[in-house]
Amino acid sequence: MIRIRDIRSADIDEILAIADVQLGENYITIDDLSRCNVIVAEDVELQKCVGFCLSYVGLDGEAYVRTVAVSPNFSGQGIGTALVAKSVEYLEGIGAKKIMSSLWKHDGIVNSDVIFRRNGFLPVREIPDYWYADSMAKGYSCPVCGKGCHCICVMYELKIES
Ligand SMILES: CC(C)(COP(=O)(O)OP(=O)(O)OC[C@H]1O[C@@H](n2cnc3c(N)ncnc32)[C@H](O)[C@@H]1OP(=O)(O)O)[C@@H](O)C(=O)NCCC(=O)NCCS
Repeated sequence: MIRIRDIRSADIDEILAIADVQLGENYITIDDLSRCNVIVAEDVELQKCVGFCLSYVGLDGEAYVRTVAVSPNFSGQGIGTALVAKSVEYLEGIGAKKIMSSLWKHDGIVNSDVIFRRNGFLPVREIPDYWYADSMAKGYSCPVCGKGCHCICVMYELKIES
């Protein structure tokens, strides 16, 4: 059984390991975890974290789902969709009227398009080289480009009905 819940300190190493594999080495750091709301998916029998989703409200007052990742052994079970749903619920709960997410497009495909659309998000614009400056400054490695990420970002948006 998979349980969707808030982060506990014991989850940190497992989250960082999933992030390194699925999002690129060092893309997510402990600092990121401390600055974001972190929802995790736990395999209850294995007592192991198998996915996570980060969300936050920026200094601009805008609400973001920053990223979601699920361990490859657990893909296709609805975990990514459920993690985004729980993060949306959190952001709505603290008053967000609009939620954005910058999703990664490679070879014309946004991996997470389906899970965001299932949560009501729609693509609104594309931004080339979105992560380039950040990847150079922080030294993380994109799983596709390596050092210096040239991936395209597709900005998705969810408008919350009042
Ligand atoms: C994208 C990701 C979070 C999906 O997690 P998941 O638990 O498998 O998602 P769900 O089971 O809720 O939904 C799966 C759907 O996503 C889509 N999907 C998953 N991986 C995909 C891929 N590589 N390319 C295209 N679509 C993909 C499929 O359409 C699938 O639908 P289906 O099961 O009906 O066929 C997971 O594959 C992952 O961690 N990927 C790498 C990191 C990433 O790209 N994160 C998003 C960046 S913000």
